[in-house]
Amino acid sequence: MRQQIVAGNWKMNQTLEEGIELTRLILEKIDKPKGLVVIAPPLTHLKEIGKMLKVRKHFHLGAQNCHQEEKGAYTGEVSANMLASVGCEFVIIGHSERRQYFKEKNDVLAAKVNVVLSKGMRPIFCCGEPLHIREVDTHVGYVAKQLKASLFHLNEADFRKVVIAYEPIWAIGTGRTASSQQAQEMHHAIRVLIAKKYGKGVADSTSILYGGSCNAQNAAELLSQPDVDGGLIGGASLKADDFAVIVAAMK
Ligand code: PGA
Repeated sequence: MRQQIVAGNWKMNQTLEEGIELTRLILEKIDKPKGLVVIAPPLTHLKEIGKMLKVRKHFHLGAQNCHQEEKGAYTGEVSANMLASVGCEFVIIGHSERRQYFKEKNDVLAAKVNVVLSKGMRPIFCCGEPLHIREVDTHVGYVAKQLKASLFHLNEADFRKVVIAYEPIWAIGTGRTASSQQAQEMHHAIRVLIAKKYGKGVADSTSILYGGSCNAQNAAELLSQPDVDGGLIGGASLKADDFAVIVAAMK
């Protein structure tokens, strides 16, 4: 059985004090999750929140991004090594907001995936199509291109460490969720693609998360799909009660 994972992407929300309180509530409300729970707070909170998560089984610290270079004169950036040094185990790579607002392209994302893996962490690699692509029914090919360009250079051992998050851009923060059938169709297509490249064994053990307006109301339906192995949660990860319901929806 592949790993079930629910990851909370806080984005640019919460002061440190608020983040500590939110983490306290999350830890209080979630007792024994069936899979892994990843919390990805803002950079400034990693160390403190990491300390809180460390003492609890199944909880892991994640970052929302990192720079592709090892180190150097990149003012304002953070390296994978720095993230590992404060206890991060996961790094979200290629979120559509990074692609859109920070112009991150597939080749840069491939370099980020490499540096994250080289520091012993696991990338949560985001893919997903914009609305106009969905409307002309070329979404499977679009996502395949993203995966091929940024992940398929990896050897099998490294690929096995990658978590994939399918996040249709038209569903992120919009309240418009993909239907469970749409999610299942894409997750299945991604698994077929992985099987073609790395074999069925690898495809069957790759965790593919759904993201995009996943919330306490729709999580059970989405996460019950056979190829949906958890969720990458934005807005609803900022409410401890809702996040706990989503975590409880893991298979
Ligand atoms: P959302 O964000 O749950 O607020 O739609 C998901 C994400 O961006 O990872």
